[in-house]
Amino acid sequence: MSWFTSTFTSSIGKKLVMSLAGLFLIIFLLVHLGINLMVLLENNMYFNKTAHFMGTNILIKIFEIVLFGGFIIHMIYALFLQIQNWLARPVRYKIENLTNQTSFFSKYMIHTSVVILVFLVIHLVDFYIKAKFIGDVSDVVYNGKEYHDLAALVEAKFLLGGAVIFYLIALLFLGFHLNHGFQSAFQTLGIDHKKYTPVIKFLGVIYSILVPLGYACIPLIIYFAK
Ligand code: HEM
Repeated sequence: MSWFTSTFTSSIGKKLVMSLAGLFLIIFLLVHLGINLMVLLENNMYFNKTAHFMGTNILIKIFEIVLFGGFIIHMIYALFLQIQNWLARPVRYKIENLTNQTSFFSKYMIHTSVVILVFLVIHLVDFYIKAKFIGDVSDVVYNGKEYHDLAALVEAKFLLGGAVIFYLIALLFLGFHLNHGFQSAFQTLGIDHKKYTPVIKFLGVIYSILVPLGYACIPLIIYFAK
C-alpha cells in the first residue's frame, strides 16, 4: 500500500487528514468573523463590498471549493473514526476513560459536531444559498455599481428573536467543539512538547471563547442595538 493510500485509510492517517482540515476551518472561522463584524459598522457599504469581493474573486472562489472540501473531509473522517471507536471493545474503552485525563469537551466532540452540522446547513440556506442561487436578496448601488445587499439580509435575520437564540446556542456548541478540537489537532500533528503544549492548550481555550463570542456579538448587537 502506498503512503498516499495508507494516509487516507489508516486510523492515524484519517486523524491526520481530519486535523489538517480542522486547522484549515479554524483559520476560515477567523477570516469569516473578521468580515462579518463589518456588518456592525454604521455604513453597510464596507460589508457588502467585502462580501462581493469574497464572492467574485477567482482565488477566493478556489478557496471556497477547498473550504467545502475541508468541511466534508473533516466530517466524513470524524464519522469514520467515531464508528471505529464505537466498534472497538467497549470494556477497554471504559477503562481508558477512567484513566486518561480527557477534558469534558473531548467526550462530546461527535455530539457537538451534529449541532454544528445542523447549524451549518440552516446557515448556508439562510445566507449563502439565498444570495448565490435563489437571488433572494435586494441590490444596492455604490459609485454606480450594483452589489447584493447581504448586510440587509443579515440584519433582517437577526431582528428575529428565534434566529438570535438559535445562533447563540449553535455558537455555544461551536465553542465546546473548538475548545478540544484546537489543541487536539496540534496533538495529532505530533506537537507534544513540555513547553509548547500548554501554550497551545491556552491558545485553544482563548480561541474557543473569543471566536464564538465575536460571532455572538453580531446577532446580539443587531437585535438589541441596530
Ligand atoms: C453571526 C454569525 C455569522 C454570520 C452573520 C454569518 C454570515 C454569513 C454570510 C452573510 C454568508 C454568505 C456570504 C456570501 O454568500 O457571500 C456566510 C457564508 C458562510 N458561513 Fe457564515 N456567518 C456566521 C457564522 C458562521 C459560522 C459560526 C460558521 C461555521 C461554523 C459559518 C460558516 C459559513 C460558511 C461555510 C459559509 C459559506 C462560504 C462563504 O461564503 O464564505 N458562518 N456566512
